[in-house]
Amino acid sequence: MPVNLSFHPHCQDFRINSCLLHRRTTTLLRECRVTTDTNLSIRFVDDTEIQWLNEHYRHKNGPTNVLSFPFADGADSSLSQVPIKELGDIVISVDTAWREANEFKQSLHERLTWLITHGLLHLLGYDHERSESEAIHMQDKEQELLHKLHHSRSTAMTHLAINVDHIATIRQARGGIEPDPVAAAAICEMAGASGIVVHLREDRRHIIDRDVRLLRETIKTKLNLEMGANKEIITIALAIKPDMITLVPEKRQELTTEGGLDVAAQKKSLAKTIDKMRKAGIPVSLFIDPDSQQIKTAQEIGATFVEIHTGRYCDAVGEKARDQEFQLIATSADEAYQMGLRVCAGHGLNYQTTARIAGLDTIEELSIGHAIIARAAFTGLDRAVRDMLAIVQKASKRY
Ligand code: PXP
Repeated sequence: MPVNLSFHPHCQDFRINSCLLHRRTTTLLRECRVTTDTNLSIRFVDDTEIQWLNEHYRHKNGPTNVLSFPFADGADSSLSQVPIKELGDIVISVDTAWREANEFKQSLHERLTWLITHGLLHLLGYDHERSESEAIHMQDKEQELLHKLHHSRSTAMTHLAINVDHIATIRQARGGIEPDPVAAAAICEMAGASGIVVHLREDRRHIIDRDVRLLRETIKTKLNLEMGANKEIITIALAIKPDMITLVPEKRQELTTEGGLDVAAQKKSLAKTIDKMRKAGIPVSLFIDPDSQQIKTAQEIGATFVEIHTGRYCDAVGEKARDQEFQLIATSADEAYQMGLRVCAGHGLNYQTTARIAGLDTIEELSIGHAIIARAAFTGLDRAVRDMLAIVQKASKRY
């Protein structure tokens, strides 16, 4: 279906994923039974350009979010004889879409998808300005299409993998045997977790070798071993064979993993580790900040997954800062997904911050630890896992 997307240079600032929007538009056209030989053009502009179009063609002041121009609208009727089928043009202001995305707590791409849907329905003859009943009719159709798009999510329901390091932190506080992270993992699985994550640190401050060995034997879902790319831990991973590993930067003095890997700076050594794991049949995830260069390098050196660091989003102070961090994650997840990487996310997520991330359709798994273990101290682990799972499931049902 010939869909042509074009961008005003100003749109570069927003890191729009054109492949993702193209795919969604094609799905929408199919759902609307538009024939495959029909052309549609979508132009993404800034507020200045849409304001001019709004004044010139609709005699309305100020910028708007979307304008639709059906082909041959108001033009010579002989144009209908043109053999190529043209649906028309949709023009979207990315500036306005960005403001609305933040207002409605959506990702920019989610908002742009809504605007494309709205614009497309106008091209197909729907009009919410003609009467109340037509407005309802158009709104219903919009909902129906967005629902269908949701069911063609890039990934199925977001998975929840639980990091049980902090059960071990409590155990290590007394140097004894309780509580046991292996028992915790079993409870998490019974409550519905899709996987268990543990970080075997060089200093063994929480998870110890015995935990990883026993978890390998007892876990029924998936064991993700988080680790620094150092020789000793690599040898352990190759012997234990977790279902996947997540490589993280590890510093002795840090309280927790502080930032993502600098994949570009450690390209050679990370590529070597990935290759070793590949030969052993262990997929590798690289824990990275939401950054285009890191994603590109991760793909170049053969990572199967990237895990996008959500820490800055969770720690952001004030709505504006948090919205900005969220948009970075959303765009990076889209970019990684389009490159063929599988996408996870995690760090610092809690019962307030998880829903927005779980709603991103390119992220297949979240890795969450501290918030769940902290809540478990009051509610029990089973309840804490189920509460988080409910948030993840509800959010990933949303478009
Ligand atoms: N992902 C990675 C790579 C991590 O290092 C951690 C912390 O161990 C997590 C996810 C989980 O973070 P939190 O415990 O803050 O949920």
